[in-house]
Amino acid sequence: MNTVNVNLGERSYAICIGSGLLSRIGSMLDEIVNATSYFFVLDENIELTYGKKAMDSCSVETFACVLQAIEKNKTAQSLGDIWSAMLTDECDRGVPVVTVGGGIVGDVGGFAAATFMRGVPYVQVPTTLLAMVDASIGGKTGINLPVQRRDDEDILGKNLAGAFWQPKLVVVDVDVLQTLDDRQLVCGLAECIKHAMLGNKELLSWIEKNVELILARDNETLIELVTRCVKIKVEVVEKDEREAGCRALLNLGHTFAHTIEPLPEQGLYHGEAVSIGICAAMSYAEAIGTFDADRADQIRNLFGTVGLPTRLPLPIAIEELVSSMKTDKKTVDSTLRLVLPTADGAEIVSEVDSSMLSLAWASVGATI
Ligand SMILES: NC(=O)c1ccc[n+]([C@@H]2O[C@H](COP(=O)([O-])OP(=O)(O)OC[C@H]3O[C@@H](n4cnc5c(N)ncnc54)[C@H](O)[C@@H]3O)[C@@H](O)[C@H]2O)c1
Repeated sequence: MNTVNVNLGERSYAICIGSGLLSRIGSMLDEIVNATSYFFVLDENIELTYGKKAMDSCSVETFACVLQAIEKNKTAQSLGDIWSAMLTDECDRGVPVVTVGGGIVGDVGGFAAATFMRGVPYVQVPTTLLAMVDASIGGKTGINLPVQRRDDEDILGKNLAGAFWQPKLVVVDVDVLQTLDDRQLVCGLAECIKHAMLGNKELLSWIEKNVELILARDNETLIELVTRCVKIKVEVVEKDEREAGCRALLNLGHTFAHTIEPLPEQGLYHGEAVSIGICAAMSYAEAIGTFDADRADQIRNLFGTVGLPTRLPLPIAIEELVSSMKTDKKTVDSTLRLVLPTADGAEIVSEVDSSMLSLAWASVGATI
């Protein structure tokens, strides 16, 4: 088992990465929290497998609430359902929340933990690659909120309400990735490639060399991939826990991604939107001369090799995309901010040129 420590003073915690850990969760929990019961928030699709295994490993009483992990459920309604279930089960401030699932369950369950009785301890057990390398680390929790679109049809604005609430422990058991569908596994790779772009060229070549083993879900390779990616994210979170500065660089390409992810007609998963978003961000940076065209091609090729999209599935008007970008929460004081790649990592650009923005959207298939 690899352990990566997140050093945040009294909010420090460990991320344990290995194989066969699910059946040890009970004792791992007992080591860090002294509780007489645990409240599990489980992803519906793995409730009876990994959820049950984790709960069965506990020697104390367990309660559970199940969530269907779709973006439409990452809402205030689900948050309320979890609070209600916790009240029904007579949970108090001493009952930790344990989330077992992907980023949706982790984000909503984590937000419930951050807010129930003004905050209870929680533990993340991520079951998708994306949640292992990104969503479960760093304490960002949250839900989507409905935002009015021009044609009056509401869409969900991503993560518009939330809290920073660090887990007490993260347990990553890569065995669970054996049942993740291919499309979801590849989505996780989008965040791995993004981590590598933040100044870790060696990781980029390592992913290129190990693509086949990763896609074949070789356990040792997955443990190494997750450990390498987690270390990158942890380093950033330790420097800037509440995203006052460099942590925003982890949002590379995300202003673009968050604009297209909620559009039902595009049918994109988060990791796919991130892949297209990074491609748009690279085009913008290439056009202003801050990112090398060969490197951009290398990354586009890597996205393609692992099976990630580099263009929008359906054409959409640039004007519509630009207008909805402005509701993204990375808009500060009504200023649109982009996180763009550079030779050594990424940078935040707050003076956004509208013709470059159009060019970036056009490069991924948006139309005039
Ligand atoms: N908090 C953060 O810092 C952060 C960072 C990145 C992404 N996110 C959020 O994470 C969410 C995306 O999370 P995700 O990609 O993990 O997807 P997800 O939670 O939507 O899960 C994807 C699908 O995989 C299924 N699943 C989960 N684990 C499985 C397993 N082991 N075997 C079989 N099926 C399994 C789920 O039921 C679901 O159908 C987005 O809402 C995004 O905003 C949060």
